[in-house]
Formats: sequence, structure tokens, C-alpha cells
Amino acid sequence: MGLDTQISAAIRMIRKGRKKIEVVERFGDEVYELAMVRLKYKEKFKRPIYMPLSGFRYATHEVVARYRGRVARERVVADLSCGCGMQAIFFAKYAEKVYAVDIDPRMIRYARMNARLYNAKNIEFIVGDALDNRIKSMIYDADFVFSDPSRPESERRRRLSTLSPPPAKIVEIYDKPYMFDLPPQISAKEITINGRREYISLHGKINRLTLYAPDIAPRNNDVWCVSLPRGAVLGKNDRIDRDYPRASEAYEYIYLVDQAVYYASLLPELCKKYCVEVLSTGKRRTFATSEKRKNSPFFVRVCRRLSGPYKTLEEALRVAKSTGISSPTIHAPISPSEYWKVRGMFGTAKIKGLKGAIIGWKDNYYVCEVI
Ligand SMILES: C[S@@+](CC[C@H](N)C(=O)[O-])C[C@H]1O[C@@H](n2cnc3c(N)ncnc32)[C@H](O)[C@@H]1O
Repeated sequence: MGLDTQISAAIRMIRKGRKKIEVVERFGDEVYELAMVRLKYKEKFKRPIYMPLSGFRYATHEVVARYRGRVARERVVADLSCGCGMQAIFFAKYAEKVYAVDIDPRMIRYARMNARLYNAKNIEFIVGDALDNRIKSMIYDADFVFSDPSRPESERRRRLSTLSPPPAKIVEIYDKPYMFDLPPQISAKEITINGRREYISLHGKINRLTLYAPDIAPRNNDVWCVSLPRGAVLGKNDRIDRDYPRASEAYEYIYLVDQAVYYASLLPELCKKYCVEVLSTGKRRTFATSEKRKNSPFFVRVCRRLSGPYKTLEEALRVAKSTGISSPTIHAPISPSEYWKVRGMFGTAKIKGLKGAIIGWKDNYYVCEVI
């Protein structure tokens, strides 16, 4: 039985509710993992890619890979830790040639199959350690090197040194311009390599941090953020005071801000450009506010304040219900027990009512209409 036939048969078993152990006994771990990814590949890709479950979490989203691929236009690129090949495939759409290197032969096998799926023909695949001189000599004609290194599953504080291959070593070994994919949570102080930072969000959520050597960076700013899929850009302006205006209470309009703006520390630029004040900041949620309605591609949600602030989420929810809001979206920290309370209050049935939201942070909860 060929690999595709096995994957299809495994998918049928999973869909019928058969246990993991039964699927693994029949087809083995590898086919089980490929089948599991096939069941959800559309979350990230247009085509039914070959990828193990462990690779799926960190694989570059197709929208991001396509956007970043443009930097390779008419160049020769070496992706030194290509994984299942998504970024390499989208470099190849623009590049003259791509070298796709990975230490794991299984990844190179999948990357080859994925390249066929996406009809990318100008990729040379190489199994090997990016830190090895053999690889350096094989990619000698590359104009720049790229690496999206493996990272530990979880870490209290993201660091460059725990990445594999370590970016600082790549800079040391390869005497070429570089481009790295780094964990967006890493603090700017930890990035000891000279470069320009690009924070990318997808549908308002932080997705990637790219570090470009200045000579290949697509922009002149030290830092900028890009909101995909629209592609809106906000760049750091050194002439703007880093202290941004803060509001102690919400005005008429409240905005949920794109996470990339927060990660890139570009709230001063956002406030200045769109004439808003910041209400509250955080990795998960940042809110801005204004008296008159403002529009920005970096506002993920625009709301009109109806009432508040209330001290607790429960109080805000009670008011929301009496205001005729059917089932509010909650943009506030919510514990699992609170979640069930909300479900109990509002149920799951779709009742006709005002499209509402609760916007909140510690001790401040507003009942809003979503507009
Ligand atoms: C996060 S994945 C890359 C994902 C890929 N960019 C994508 O778009 O799907 C990281 C890859 O780095 C590879 N890797 C780790 N250390 C390496 C090394 N020293 N040399 C080459 N590849 C390495 C791992 O095998 C893994 O496949």
C-alpha cells in the first residue's frame, strides 16, 4: 500500500472514532501522525501537506510564508533548517534557487513531497547539520541564509542560545547576510545579533518575528510590524516620544489592538498615527480608546462603550444581559469557572439581540456594542 493510500485509510479509521492505538498498530506512528495533520491542514495550508504532528505547530503559516518569500526575489537562498519546507517552498516561488537543508532526513523527505505538491522545482534538498562545514561549501553561491530554528517546547524566558541551530553560530560560520525566524516572545535585549525586527500578526494575533541583516531588510526602520493577511505596516519612528498617551477611563470608542503592535513596542506610533490613547496593555490584549471613531488596520475589533467600568466581569455580564445583548464576546481574562458561569447565563442558543462585547482587565469591565 502506498503512503497516500495508508494515510487515507488511517483518516477513515480516525473519523470512525477508532482509538489511536488501533490506527498505530495497523499503520504505525508515522502514518498516524501524517493522518492527524491531514485532518487539520486547512488551518494553515491550502494543500494537503505531509507533516508530522510535532512539525505542524511550528510550521510557517502559508500566508506568512508567501509574504516573507518575496525577500528572495531573484536571489539564491539557503534555508538552513527547512523542516517540512513551507518557507523554502515560498522562497522558491520568487527565488532563482533555494537550498533546503535539514538535519533530520525525515523532514527532508516530507519537504520534497511538499515541494512537489506546490510545484516548486528550483529547490535543492540537503540532509545535514547547518553547523557543518560541508553544508557551508555546498551552499557557497547563496546570496543570504535563512533559519527558522527549532525551539524548546516551553521556556520561562525565550533565549537565542537554546535555539537549534543557534543563530549566533550561523552568523559566525556563514559570512553572508542572514534572516532568522525568532520566537516573538523573545525580548529585544536578548537579541544580540545586529538586525532589523519585523513582527508579523495573522488576524490580529502575533505569529512571527523575523530578524533581517540590515543589508537585506525590506525596510529601513529598526522595527516594524505587519498585519496579515491585509499587509498593513507600521514602522518605528525615532522622532516620536516613546511615552504614549494613556487614558484612565474609556471614551466613546474602544479598540482591541493588533498584538503585533504591542510586541513591536509601537504603541507610540499607533497613538500618534490614529489619534487614540491607550487604555490597557498586555501580551494578550491591548485596548485603545478615542472620543471620535477612528479607523485603523491595526484595530482588530471596534466597539462603542455602552456602560462601565464595572469592578467584576460578573457584574458587567449581568448588565450586558439586561441591555439585550445575546451572547457577548469576552475580551477580558476569564477563568474556566467563569466561562461556565457565562455559558450558564447566556446559553448557547443564538438569541436575537445586540452584538455585544465585554472589554476588560483587572477591576475594569465595560459593556460594549461591537461595530
Ligand atoms: C521550526 S522547524 C522549521 C520549520 C520550517 N521553517 C517551516 O516553514 O515549516 C526547525 C527545523 O530545524 C531543524 N534543525 C535543528 N537543528 C538543526 C541543525 N543543526 N541543522 C539543520 N537543521 C536543524 C529541525 O530538524 C527542524 O526540522
